[in-house]
Amino acid sequence: MSQPARPAGTATAWAGINIALVKYWGKRDTARNLPAVSSLSLTLAEMGTRTTVTFDPSLTADVFELDGAVRDDPRVVALLDGIRGLRRVERHARVVSRNHVPTASGLASSASGAAALAAAAWAATGGDLAAARADRAFIELVRRGSGSAPRSLYGGLVELDRDSGGVRPVLSAGAWDLRMVVARLARGPKTTSSREGMARTAATSPFYPAWVGSHPADMVEAREAIEGRDLPRLGAVMERSTYKMHAAMLGADPPLRYWNGRTLDALDRVQALRAAGVGAWATMDAGPHVKVLCAADDAEAVAAALAEVAAPGDVTVASAGPGALIEP
Ligand code: PMV
Repeated sequence: MSQPARPAGTATAWAGINIALVKYWGKRDTARNLPAVSSLSLTLAEMGTRTTVTFDPSLTADVFELDGAVRDDPRVVALLDGIRGLRRVERHARVVSRNHVPTASGLASSASGAAALAAAAWAATGGDLAAARADRAFIELVRRGSGSAPRSLYGGLVELDRDSGGVRPVLSAGAWDLRMVVARLARGPKTTSSREGMARTAATSPFYPAWVGSHPADMVEAREAIEGRDLPRLGAVMERSTYKMHAAMLGADPPLRYWNGRTLDALDRVQALRAAGVGAWATMDAGPHVKVLCAADDAEAVAAALAEVAAPGDVTVASAGPGALIEP
């Protein structure tokens, strides 16, 4: 029996969030959203964004609904405009999006959001997602939506290159059984957007040049650790990268501190786990949450330790997931 055909002009995409192991912080070109440093991330399976885009001739403007509420978001319209330009489509779109992560809480929903939106819009115009991934103009659009978003187009371990602004898969999700245990340590949106935080750090932190200058060696180290499937080595460079990024932020004027007291409590737990022989390494983004990289076998012990710090239900064990995909 043949599948019922998808109505023309509509598509639904899923994109997982990605957590950077070697971080991106700072831009070398603000207009094109080109990063000052390369980065390396893990796309997660259990957390992300599902978005349906329908190009509808009866609409006189784009309509964007996120988690049940209609919003005005110029970034959504800009991304849709970009796709319309590339695909020569003129119709406006209805966008219905649902986050499976807390929005704007430092859990990177802007990356999965931009990736899912771009993928769904592209597919809704009849485009093939594999072709989109190979299309520089498409990657550029996704990156303008959110600097870390192109990484969510691929699954597993993914690299975003500083020089080209392009993205490439490093290791597929199934090739290394890693876990990222995510402890959500606050509610509500972050205090300073990453866009604003990056600009302030670059403009005022005396540690910013050292962050950028010492970064390439971390990328080399992380690539070697991945090639050798050496988790302690990858964990160590991951922690170094996040602490250096936060050090650069702390040196900004006024200082940027995304951590709260529970962030430090969670970091203590991770250190104690390691002292007890459990392989666990922490990373933090532009928010107070702590994400812990570990082997599948250690995930339960890590989750139990973080549950002593996070509210009930706020610890998620996530595994490596696929890149953005179109759902039937
Ligand atoms: O993509 P943005 O603008 O939300 O920036 C993401 C920055 C960090 O999450 C802090 C680090 C990273 O590489 O993901």
